[in-house]
Amino acid sequence: MLQQKSVQLMKLLFGFTLMLAAGAQAAEAAKPNVVILATGGTIAGSGATSTTTVGYTAATVGVDNLIKAVPELAKVANVKGEQVFQIASENMSNEHWLTLAKRVNALLAQRDVDGIVITHGTDTLEETAYFLDLTVKSKKPVVLVGAMRPSTAISADGPINLYNAVMLAASQEAVGKGVLVALNDQINAAREVTKTNTSTLDTFKTTELGMLGYFQGNKVHFYRQSTRKNTADTEFDVSNLTSLPQVDIVYGYANMGPVALNALVAAGAKGIIHAGVGDGSLAAKVVPSLQAARKQGVVIVRAARVGQGIVARNGEANDDELDTVVSDTLNAQKARILLMLALTKTSDTKEIQRMFYTY
Ligand code: SIN
Repeated sequence: MLQQKSVQLMKLLFGFTLMLAAGAQAAEAAKPNVVILATGGTIAGSGATSTTTVGYTAATVGVDNLIKAVPELAKVANVKGEQVFQIASENMSNEHWLTLAKRVNALLAQRDVDGIVITHGTDTLEETAYFLDLTVKSKKPVVLVGAMRPSTAISADGPINLYNAVMLAASQEAVGKGVLVALNDQINAAREVTKTNTSTLDTFKTTELGMLGYFQGNKVHFYRQSTRKNTADTEFDVSNLTSLPQVDIVYGYANMGPVALNALVAAGAKGIIHAGVGDGSLAAKVVPSLQAARKQGVVIVRAARVGQGIVARNGEANDDELDTVVSDTLNAQKARILLMLALTKTSDTKEIQRMFYTY
């Protein structure tokens, strides 16, 4: 009798365990699948001591350890990591971008991938974000994340930033919003955000147009979105590209001369972003060299070094006469990205101007 009862109890326990296992499996399947592509930066950096917040080494910690450091990630998504590069972001090249865009596109084409997080150094994070905003062919969320303090620092910001980024990449709210940047509890659009401070945690800002939203209480909260076309709605396709046209930036200042511009053109630049003073003004000493470069087929884009506002077409320079393009509100480093991609399609300045008003 006692034996019969214990067999029954064992059966019951076994059934219960199976039920629990099935429940756990169903919960796993219900969670979104997010891939973390690691590229290096301070978020993967380490310092000599826990108070080392400058003078540390970027890009030393591997993706598995970044994920292990935040067990809470498993609450919001099924997470997998891939080490794509391990570099400080000042070394990010056009070839790195092409590799990354192709990997993102391949992953997002898979039915079992719902979103991507890219860990990245903050110095050029906005550039990679905008490159992907123009070249990713999917509406699924792509989120770039970095940190201002290395992983070994007291109050390192990497773990919470990574948690927020994964939550964002796993969210329905992020679908169709273009490539996003997640740091310091804030969500920003790739096209608009820029790094504004050398070292503080709140360095990423969309100063005038405003951030898109916040992270609060384990939730994402959106309030606005960029009006510019992005990702699946762009005309750029990098799937067969192995390099990008050379585009360089010249920086405007008082007493500026043409030396840097001439050197870049002589070095083979196909496009020049002129980050002019004020509303993208051109110094009289520079104009003849710009005209000569244009005659050679080099496309010139007038941007502004001030960092905010629209560069007015035919405002501080006669763009129709000079056959120059204006950057609209893009800063010089993002104008460089759009011009490189534009030059893969056309060298017609009217077409390129249209692209600057579209993306
Ligand atoms: C880098 O951009 O790789 C170093 C700086 C940072 O990540 O904050």
